Amino acid sequence: MTMTPIADRVLAGKKALVVGVANENSIAWGCAKAFHELGAEVALTYLNEKAKRFVEPLAERIGAAILAPLDVEQPGQMEALFERIQRDWGRLDIAVHSIAWAPKDDLQGGLLDCSAAGFARAMDVSCHSFIRLARAAAPLMTDGGSLFAMSYHGAQKVVDNYNVMGPVKAALEAACRYLAFELGPRAIRVHPISPGPLKTRAASGLKDFDLLLAEAAHKAPIGELVDIMDVGFACAYLATPYARRITGGTIYVDGGVHVVA
Ligand SMILES: NC(=O)c1ccc[n+]([C@@H]2O[C@H](COP(=O)([O-])OP(=O)(O)OC[C@H]3O[C@@H](n4cnc5c(N)ncnc54)[C@H](O)[C@@H]3O)[C@@H](O)[C@H]2O)c1
Repeated sequence: MTMTPIADRVLAGKKALVVGVANENSIAWGCAKAFHELGAEVALTYLNEKAKRFVEPLAERIGAAILAPLDVEQPGQMEALFERIQRDWGRLDIAVHSIAWAPKDDLQGGLLDCSAAGFARAMDVSCHSFIRLARAAAPLMTDGGSLFAMSYHGAQKVVDNYNVMGPVKAALEAACRYLAFELGPRAIRVHPISPGPLKTRAASGLKDFDLLLAEAAHKAPIGELVDIMDVGFACAYLATPYARRITGGTIYVDGGVHVVA
């Protein structure tokens, strides 16, 4: 099926920060491409120098106005990124947090065995960094704005092998609800997005991920798996004024998998 955008260049004039592009399979890349196709200017980040050589050509493809490092565990990098956005753009309309991480042993073992240190790092990188991002972005969203965080159905139901990421994503979705409440009066909307399974680098860290993909394809009422552009265009729609009264609730982009027992 060919996709016809909801309205040509409906995001023209908007400034969008997208955090979490590792390569062209990344969900964040789907968001960046969708925003770009609909007319927004995009800023991208890369994790470190090793990651930069994969992200730089993608940034060039969409004419990204800003390309800056961001490892949320490195003190000062978030501040430097937002100083750059303030200097170059003076404002911001959209920010996407599409990052998650947990130490391998903690991710691949059951929750009963998760260490306190592993839990804390997973929570910091995958959840609290979104709160920090929202805190830094909000003052630049002078004309209102939209914040996005990538969750997964394992936040709400037990998904085999999702382990520590289940409670971490549950905390992320709850954080989105509380931030939606706190930022609503400033016309800043907060959207936890729950994509169906996608073959990405982060997903390859989950045990038996191929089984999860096969099960999702089998269960989905739509009859097929989602792709990164499905997620990107859903976020793009939510960033338009057409969605101005939607905030806080988890939006599934999963072909309907979550409604099937
Ligand atoms: N792939 C799926 O099936 C799926 C489904 C639902 C939700 N998600 C979520 O989508 C988001 C994006 O993951 P993806 O599947 O596109 O994989 P990905 O590997 O392409 O993206 C994960 C990103 O997290 C970044 N990251 C990790 N640690 C970081 C740190 N300390 N600082 C800054 N960035 C860091 C990586 O650099 C990478 O860009 C994650 O939150 C993931 O949990 C993925």
